[in-house]
Amino acid sequence: MMLQINSLSQYQDEYRRSIEHPEQFWAEQAEHFEWHRKWHTVLKNDFITPDVRWFEGGRLNITENCLDRHIADKGDKPAIIWEPNDPTGPSISISYRQLLAQVNQCANALRSMGVSKGDRICIYMPMIPQAVVAMLACARVGAVHSIVFAGFSAKSLSDRITDTGCKWVICSDYNRRGAKDIAVKEVVDEALSLEPNLVEKVLVYKHTNKTTCWNPELDVCWQDIVPLMPEKCAPEIMDSEDMLFILYTSGSTGKPKGAVHTIGGYMVFTCFTFINTFQYKNDDIYWCTADIGWITGHSYGVYGPLLAGATTLMFEGVPNYPDAGRFWQIIDKYRVTQFYTAPTAIRSLMASAWDEPDKYKLDSLKVIGSVGEPINEEAWHWYDEKVGRGKVPIVDTWWQTENGGIMITPLPGITDTKPCYASYPLPGVQPVIVNQDGKILEGNDVEGLLCIRFPWPSVVRTTYGDHERCRTTYFAPFPGFYFTGDAARRDSEGRYRIMGRVDDVINVSGHRLGTAEVEDAINSHPEIVESAVVGFPHPIKGQGIYAYVTALHDVEDKEKLIREVLQVVTEQIGAIAKPDKIQFAPQLPKTRSGKIMRRILRKIAEGAPEQIGDTSTLINPECVQDLIDGCEL
Ligand code: WTA
Repeated sequence: MMLQINSLSQYQDEYRRSIEHPEQFWAEQAEHFEWHRKWHTVLKNDFITPDVRWFEGGRLNITENCLDRHIADKGDKPAIIWEPNDPTGPSISISYRQLLAQVNQCANALRSMGVSKGDRICIYMPMIPQAVVAMLACARVGAVHSIVFAGFSAKSLSDRITDTGCKWVICSDYNRRGAKDIAVKEVVDEALSLEPNLVEKVLVYKHTNKTTCWNPELDVCWQDIVPLMPEKCAPEIMDSEDMLFILYTSGSTGKPKGAVHTIGGYMVFTCFTFINTFQYKNDDIYWCTADIGWITGHSYGVYGPLLAGATTLMFEGVPNYPDAGRFWQIIDKYRVTQFYTAPTAIRSLMASAWDEPDKYKLDSLKVIGSVGEPINEEAWHWYDEKVGRGKVPIVDTWWQTENGGIMITPLPGITDTKPCYASYPLPGVQPVIVNQDGKILEGNDVEGLLCIRFPWPSVVRTTYGDHERCRTTYFAPFPGFYFTGDAARRDSEGRYRIMGRVDDVINVSGHRLGTAEVEDAINSHPEIVESAVVGFPHPIKGQGIYAYVTALHDVEDKEKLIREVLQVVTEQIGAIAKPDKIQFAPQLPKTRSGKIMRRILRKIAEGAPEQIGDTSTLINPECVQDLIDGCEL
């Protein structure tokens, strides 16, 4: 196995070494994988253009490293344990040998459908093993997967399919979530009707016995072809810097962009960070609750654990079905050793069933993790006491879709933990805090903007189809650095605390949304002239969405218009983007150049109008009091 740090002094030594000799450090980690040809250059370091390349010249297939490599000594070990939505339903265990066979069958099916190296394939699936099979099958044949979270609307799905030029979609018929079955195939059909003739084939896994609409020209039933395929499939041998996947994520402006990750660096970094952050040991049962539609599901539900030869648990359902003990029951059922979830889940379980974990043993846990948004102190303590029983270290892991893997985190049992602190950078990660002018704030007890000053193996390579956007978003703000969009402070002992986004991104229940995206959706309602969306503190979601909207006419039936606005946002983006509060505002505060002053709107939505400060640069300062008076809090 690759380097696993097991003491504080070793962490300090390895960290120093990874900074002083990054190429040597990462080359050593990369040696642990199977390459068909070794790289000729460890790193091309260009953080300006940007043009970062790791292990260039290296040839490999990531699925051989996830699967084939483990067959000799772990062929019968469970790779995936699947727990269904319905607690009385049968669970499924898939060994490494079986998973390899299934991936190969699916890969052969894809090839028979005409898929080849470099093609993009959209996956829109629930949390079932076939989603992992589909992902890895793409990688096997050298195709690029673009997974879209199955909660996104037909419009969002269609936008993503168009942006990547996917000619194939893989989906299920229905998704089971809690008491509901969701008709996923219908969403795909609707998406395809928005942009006809783009997609050649839709591979549909029939997950339920329900009937679903069927288009014989496009649709292929998974069960009709995949199981008939040979269980062997020669992997496509790829270059280290070939694309592995595209994953859309929201930013300050415009539509979500497709973050591109490439094979070699992503493989090395996700495996290394998995092994170290979770202190993974051979017989562990590891569970990450994130949906595969998000980066956490990609890196720590699938690639990281499989690269390490671990058993990864996959859960189809939701935390509160049939009751708020579901997570704790699953932990006991499988004797889960590492549990990785999001603060929003912790807060909702804490709010609905404070003492529920007491009913369970939870004694198998060795590490519990948090990711996706800041974990507030109260939730941290509840997680620590109720779930960890005061004995299990919490890893509050900070990272982003564009990072590929965990960047800043405590190492359980090795570095100390402190509520709200993501703590220390992993080896190879060089965070800096800068001020608005890009000046590095040295020393401890400083606060500012978080940047990374040196490439790590899985830094985002580009944004699909628009390299300039990648440059301007991440690399241009502070030349020579990758800019995270987050503010952070470093405490007196060098620990990092992430303070939240400094741009127009809001983090709702751990889901990243751009305010501009939500505004565009709201504005598509014919009655709405304009809108401004800001985040506000929300007890469960972390941040809620507060929308100020200006209607074309006097609003007679407010409730009706609100319902319609929510509907249009659900159609354009998905239910996750529905505003929590909508305030009708005849005017929005604007500067002379016509820019909406969001700072003011944020303060009102936060319930802190006294902090609004100077409004003299507005052309319509008189509207501010009306907004305060009409606040929906
Ligand atoms: C936020 C999720 C505080 C942060 C892996 C970041 C966090 C954004 C943490 C990325 C954490 C993630 N503490 N904030 N431990 N982890 N964030 O791309 O604002 O969905 O920029 O990646 O989530 O969200 P993304």
